[in-house]
Amino acid sequence: MQTTTVGHAPEPEPESDRGRPVPRPVHPWPLTTVMWLRRPLDYWDELYARHGDTFTMKLPAMPPLVVFSNPEVVKQVFADHGDAMHAGEFNKVLAPFIGDKSVLMLDGKEHLRHRRILLPPFHGERMQAYGREMLDLTRAEVDRWPVGAPFGVHEPMQRVTLGVIVRTIFGVEEGPRFDAFVDRLTELTHIASWPPLLLGPMQVDLGPWSPWGKFQRKAAEVDAALLSEIRRRRHGGTEGRVDVLSLLVDAKDESGEGMTDEELRDELATLLVAGHETTATALAWAFRWVLGTPSVCERLVAEIRDAAADGLTAERVSKLEYLDAVVRETLRLQPVIPLVGRILKERMTVGGYDLPAGTPIACAIYLAHRRPEVYPEPKRFLPERFLGTKFTPSELFPFGGGIRRCIGMAFALYEMKMVLAEVLSRVSLRLADQRPITVTRRSITLTPSGGTRVVVDRRL
Ligand code: HEM
Repeated sequence: MQTTTVGHAPEPEPESDRGRPVPRPVHPWPLTTVMWLRRPLDYWDELYARHGDTFTMKLPAMPPLVVFSNPEVVKQVFADHGDAMHAGEFNKVLAPFIGDKSVLMLDGKEHLRHRRILLPPFHGERMQAYGREMLDLTRAEVDRWPVGAPFGVHEPMQRVTLGVIVRTIFGVEEGPRFDAFVDRLTELTHIASWPPLLLGPMQVDLGPWSPWGKFQRKAAEVDAALLSEIRRRRHGGTEGRVDVLSLLVDAKDESGEGMTDEELRDELATLLVAGHETTATALAWAFRWVLGTPSVCERLVAEIRDAAADGLTAERVSKLEYLDAVVRETLRLQPVIPLVGRILKERMTVGGYDLPAGTPIACAIYLAHRRPEVYPEPKRFLPERFLGTKFTPSELFPFGGGIRRCIGMAFALYEMKMVLAEVLSRVSLRLADQRPITVTRRSITLTPSGGTRVVVDRRL
């Protein structure tokens, strides 16, 4: 691990009967910003080692962010019903990417209205139909992989997860429209993954060659394609269709109102941004840890190949216990989103601190998942810890929690299992090298550097 000179903690201020005052930021914002963009996890490890469960970070364009990792505080945050803590306001940095009518951006009644409409399509029996698409798209991808030549597995995983979204969520079938959608979205997500674009001052259109100018033009093309897909569904009908867009077009809220075209467009963009890169990255981490831990790899491959003996089906894969443990352990050890954030709407005591209204707070998923009293040997990849044990929602929360918990959680867990099972049942795979694990930031996600380079030894 690289080392950093960390400043001395400021003298504590006297405690009021509402708790201690806000801890002062550890570093000035320019240093914090560089560290947070370049090596966020090492930086957090250092802050945690020096300051413990709670510390404050100053980033540009927002008041100091108070970071917590104690499960008791996480429990308090997830118990809020959206009255005292706003996640939409915290997520505002994403508004230029997904629109301001997205569930991620909203708070209060409007947030609940969108959430109630969005949740049902991601549950129930249709998951098995999505599972078949996930297996098929993975098979088509694996068939293209070279034998004996190293390549980064993150990019193929992005192709699979993007294909899954276009097929199961947007409902676009194979053919030229599917290919055009995938090409446009690949370009857009590539442009949007450059981390500085998250910073307000970078979001200036200086013509078609400037980063924000490029993003704006591609986003306008994607917007038009999404709106045309929505209208196609409104006019062409949704009878017999199981894709998420068809279900959303027909869905109504409690007062019998459906979503407008613009609301639907923002939600489709949200499902793309929230579900594509996150799941691809989680899969790249899963391959990194599984292939780098021979005992796990052996047990997992044996379980999958046994299930594949009579042909791999979505139903069979969804019931594999060790595979389930591997997926959960991957998301524990390497959560792809390191934190969830909220803005306080009133003065409150959180974790023993007296925080004024307007304070941004974060629950540090990465730090909470590495507490040795909850997870013995926390830095080791040990899927066995999930066999027969359930962790509480404040100890394990790769998908956030409470009224903001990830809408695609069941979908993402299902997809990760389908993809891992299909890949490991079709090829014999190993890591291309044993380099130590380092992390690269891509927008809001943290990916394995080099995208987990692998080699296919043979096809099965
Ligand atoms: C491994 C993959 C994924 C991870 C790690 C992940 C993680 C997260 C996290 C941490 C949040 C914030 C929760 C909070 O503030 O408490 C979130 C929200 C959300 N996620 Fe995911 N996600 C994943 C996949 C997906 C997928 C596949 C979809 C849909 C296709 C999706 C849709 C959403 C939506 C719509 C929200 C906003 C919920 C709200 O604000 O009410 N996510 N996700």
